[in-house]
Amino acid sequence: MIQAVKGTKDLFGAEATRWANMEATIRDVCKAFCIGEIRTPVFEYTELFVKTTGDTTDIVQKEMYTFTDKGGRSITLKPEVTAAVVRAFLEHKLYAQTLPSKLFYLSPCFRYEKPQAGRLRQFHQFGAEYFGVYHPAADAEMISLAHEVLKRLGIPTRLYINSLGGNACRAKYNKRMKEFLQENLDKLCPTCQERFEKNPLRVLDCKDPSCQAVLEGAPSTIDTLDTECRNHFETTLSLLKQLGINAEINHKMVRGLDYYTRTVFEFVSDDIGAQSAVCGGGRYDNLIEVSGGSPMGGIGFAMGLERLMLSLAKNAQEGNEVARHVDLYLGAIGAEGFKKAQHVAFQLREAGVCVEADMQERSVKAQMKFADKIGAKYSAILGDDELANNCVKLKNMETGEQVDAPLSELAQYIIKE
Ligand code: HAM
Repeated sequence: MIQAVKGTKDLFGAEATRWANMEATIRDVCKAFCIGEIRTPVFEYTELFVKTTGDTTDIVQKEMYTFTDKGGRSITLKPEVTAAVVRAFLEHKLYAQTLPSKLFYLSPCFRYEKPQAGRLRQFHQFGAEYFGVYHPAADAEMISLAHEVLKRLGIPTRLYINSLGGNACRAKYNKRMKEFLQENLDKLCPTCQERFEKNPLRVLDCKDPSCQAVLEGAPSTIDTLDTECRNHFETTLSLLKQLGINAEINHKMVRGLDYYTRTVFEFVSDDIGAQSAVCGGGRYDNLIEVSGGSPMGGIGFAMGLERLMLSLAKNAQEGNEVARHVDLYLGAIGAEGFKKAQHVAFQLREAGVCVEADMQERSVKAQMKFADKIGAKYSAILGDDELANNCVKLKNMETGEQVDAPLSELAQYIIKE
């Protein structure tokens, strides 16, 4: 038997229902924040991610699903969505519309990482991006959007925040970091030795224990902020405070993508194991220009839906039985009843009633057992008598109570929840 590819996951039953409910909550919150949806293709030209995510990041160096298509082009399954959304924003000239542009997405992503709980090779992100706004109010609104989604889903988290500053601050930081790392260069892993030359800040991402040991006492990005960036950070923090959102400053957090400037943040959950970051994001005031557009501020985040599901599953009771919502089980006796039942079921479905009908001409006993098993709220059996009277005995499966219900009015007898 062929099995699913390592690091991928099938979704069905109660989990699929929970997933759909989670997406509905996300859509509700985005609506309240006046954010429109965007869908981009599953793959893009490889160059897009190399240019924006950064050629010294783990994603680009180790994790991309890249292949050459039959036309000889290098294609990559999107490891993240921000770069693709920026591409679409520029390609379709969305900047010509009223700014800021506010977009959200629900999308699969692909990263060749070592699979474990909460870390998959195909996973899904809910994310949001604002383009065309530099003000810290956008940072606060973006964080409050993530906060509200997590709150409505009932997922307890802690929020960490940091500032990487703008280009000048980053240059200053990289210089300091280089000076700091210089003495222990031989203790760094080969990847970090390369990062030392090209992008010293990225060394902070490394999980290698020997690099981690070197990083003790590394300089903090906050110490190299210029006045403007410091003010931006402080205003963001005070706006968050006003919204009642607690944020803890984490000087070491730089996030694993190169496009960030100024604010970066992560929401972390305590109850889903080692892969505890449920949401990560930040400001990227260079990204739109780097991608070929005019200089324009931007900020966004993405949440891993599988990680949210891990937290939701902890509180859920359902098993793996395919979750069905069944208002009525409509069974039948005899060939005429069977035929009519198909017709009545179809009409009821048109009227919005969720109906399961017998599809196998089984015995009445087997049909009633089935109705019970699938948790139907009501059941009825159509036989010759019912056909002659155009009326069925509608049974409330919970109370056992039965009423005579005319076939033509069946929908009104079924109380929908
Ligand atoms: P990221 O931190 O790489 O950021 O990913 C965002 C979230 O996706 C993570 O916090 C995590 O919940 C989830 N995630 C990442 N990798 C995996 C995986 N292998 N398996 C399961 N879940 C995973 C970004 O992708 C940025 N594009 C976020 C952003 C948007 N920044 C600005 N705008």
